[in-house]
Amino acid sequence: MTRTRPMYVASLTEGEAEAGYLILRDGTTALIRVAQLSDQWALQVFVNGLSPESKRHRFFSETNPSPELIASLCENSDPRSLLTLLVTRAWKDEQHIIAVGSYFAKEENTAEIAIAVDDTFHGKGLGTLLLERLALLAIRHGFVHLWAVTHADNLAMREVFKESGFDVHEALENGDMEMDMLLVPTETTVTRSEIRERIATTASLRPFFRPRSVAVIGASRDPSKIGAKLLGALIANNFKGTIYPINRHASHLRGLRVYPSMRDLPHPVDMAIIAVPCDAVLGVVDECANRNVRALIIITAGFAEVNPKGRALQERLVQQVREHGMRMVGPNCFGLVNADPVVCLNATFSTHFPPFGRVAISSQSGALGLAILAAARRLHFGISTFVSVGNKADVSVNDLLQYWEEDPSTEVILLYVESFGNPRRFARIARRVSRGKPIIAIKSGRSPSGSRAAGSHTAALAQRDVVVDALFHQAGVMRAETLEELFALATGLSSQPLPPGRRIAIVTNSGGPAILCADACEAGALVVPALSEQTTTRLASILPSAAALKNPVDLIASATPQQYHQAIHTLLVADEVDALIVLYTSVTMSDNSAIAEGILTGITAGRTAGAKGKPVLACWMAEGDHDRSLMTNHETVPTYRFPETPANVLSKAASYVEWRAQPIGMVADFDDLNLPLAREICEKAVARRGSGWLTTEEIRALLAAMHLPILPGGVAPTADEAVGDGRMHRISCRRKTGLTSSRPQNGDRRRSPESPYCWRGSRSLRGDPRTSGA
Ligand code: COA
Repeated sequence: MTRTRPMYVASLTEGEAEAGYLILRDGTTALIRVAQLSDQWALQVFVNGLSPESKRHRFFSETNPSPELIASLCENSDPRSLLTLLVTRAWKDEQHIIAVGSYFAKEENTAEIAIAVDDTFHGKGLGTLLLERLALLAIRHGFVHLWAVTHADNLAMREVFKESGFDVHEALENGDMEMDMLLVPTETTVTRSEIRERIATTASLRPFFRPRSVAVIGASRDPSKIGAKLLGALIANNFKGTIYPINRHASHLRGLRVYPSMRDLPHPVDMAIIAVPCDAVLGVVDECANRNVRALIIITAGFAEVNPKGRALQERLVQQVREHGMRMVGPNCFGLVNADPVVCLNATFSTHFPPFGRVAISSQSGALGLAILAAARRLHFGISTFVSVGNKADVSVNDLLQYWEEDPSTEVILLYVESFGNPRRFARIARRVSRGKPIIAIKSGRSPSGSRAAGSHTAALAQRDVVVDALFHQAGVMRAETLEELFALATGLSSQPLPPGRRIAIVTNSGGPAILCADACEAGALVVPALSEQTTTRLASILPSAAALKNPVDLIASATPQQYHQAIHTLLVADEVDALIVLYTSVTMSDNSAIAEGILTGITAGRTAGAKGKPVLACWMAEGDHDRSLMTNHETVPTYRFPETPANVLSKAASYVEWRAQPIGMVADFDDLNLPLAREICEKAVARRGSGWLTTEEIRALLAAMHLPILPGGVAPTADEAVGDGRMHRISCRRKTGLTSSRPQNGDRRRSPESPYCWRGSRSLRGDPRTSGA
């Protein structure tokens, strides 16, 4: 039997829910983890410091809770009985608890929940985030309901329950509000959780893209050094905020006052760009934390990409950044750009500043990023923002996708990827973002040597290419095979509408390129349809008798600007055409500009006549005139050098449009999977032989445990035995592997501990003194 559940289920894996970091509604971060016995003192300090009202809401009393109660909250050896999560934030070099949430087993399927948040952190979404984590862990440990009792006037807590998106039932009992929440994820819970994540992530990244002030730490006196170039790029590209160079040995650089350290700055700073040697980075980050800097770009190399020592240093860096509620791009990165004229932020060490436009780019390679920025102007596509993510130790592509999903300046997203930190999260986020904005990705490291190189470049871990293909396919991501294709898709999709269908008209002045183009269309599952009688008649009335009026429409070598104009206009408005490819091969160089004009006026006429939603792509083959741009007052027509390229772009765009039109779908959720048996099979195999492939018998047993239909049979060591009694053999195989099948009986609702719908027995803790108000 199957159920369905929403496609987008929050994907915290085992371990991530118990420990990690949270992004608060204001974009700052905090650490979360399970409480330990050693936390008793800090927890007591935290609860004692709560305001009387917060204490009353949490403990139903304004007096400080007893040390025994605090000790019991820190005893987390049996999550079926009790679990407490702590949220911490560092200040003055110490971790402080800023929120605590616990659940306690109340009945077999019900856990009681209680949460308290530091009064200064109210309103930042911490209660909801804690509830979400506790709910997830409660589900994992077999609970189906969360229950809480709170004062009826505790509207904030009641709101937290309602905001979760779970089904909540409230009942007023003896003046207090009892709330019961059914822990079955629904489309609403998932959607709300995603929205919360997106809002918080976007807020956390805003200081990177729209900082009011930037400090450059390591702004060198030597103009050839990276720190000096970073400062130079900010100044040269007219950053609209304030710039603070930091250098211990200089008083002025490039006309700006220099400060010896972050401690000496007169005003707060939103973002710091760090280019000091790697052994000085932690100290500098500490100074930034003390000045409440929100965003760090760490250019410095020498971390996880070099050796285990560097990896350990990077781990300490990430820990430090998260403890202090900051966010970090890098380390080992090239920086970040926001080309919006109201910001003009070039936080890289190159002065290439791209034209402002609709394409956002994330690159795991700094040098490649530099090449993309340089190419943008030449290839006539504008960039909204660019981020070189480097080792992506904190800010990841997944975070950036969420930012760009919300960013009104971004319409197309380009990714250069060497590895995925969290492919499951990428799949979930990219699938959602792709529904609104096309994502074009190039993934390197396909070959063994390429993947080895990626490992030492940005500490990327190898991923199998077939898996990457499947991941992109599922998430609606267009995969570019080469950089050239990446640029071709970016130019095409950022400047023209998506094709409403696969029917392509081709207009040309030479037969050969048109044939190549038509072949490429068909190879890409596009259709080059015969034209309707109405279109053919119209073309015949305006073109010379030697012109070919079938699709491709060949205007022959003597084509005039006027003939291009009329043919384009006619084809664009034809009902049987979804997109147009214009090919031009120069015969006499002197004609080029006039032909370009004819093409553009033809497009404008077609648009004016109503063909607004049909893309037009061009191939311009004119020796010495390669980089011609075709631009009307309203649009840029992507211009490629070879006739196959526009066909390939339209083919990928059409597939993307079809993917986007598919219903979002539901994931089937089977309730007859025997997960304990599947786990047992794998564990036994690993215990016996270490990691590697399962044997045929084990695979058969595994498939049977998942109730996937398999043909009856088994493994015979010899041909004679194969024709002998297969049944007997199967039995002996099963004895040898020690595996038995234990399909649950009908109506048996027990599930494995991993299942979100686990129904195991539980001890009732009704009457336990620990269960008190929320
Ligand atoms: N606070 C403030 N300034 C400091 C400092 C600190 N704690 N420590 C050093 N500085 C200053 C230095 O005084 C120097 O300024 P000066 O030249 O005026 O004396 C400046 O910072 C740079 O320090 P320096 O020791 O000269 O380093 P460097 O410029 O040779 O190298 C990096 C620094 C970051 C560029 C280098 O460590 C590095 O990582 N390079 C590779 C970067 C890279 O490739 N990134 C990936 C790109 S895709």
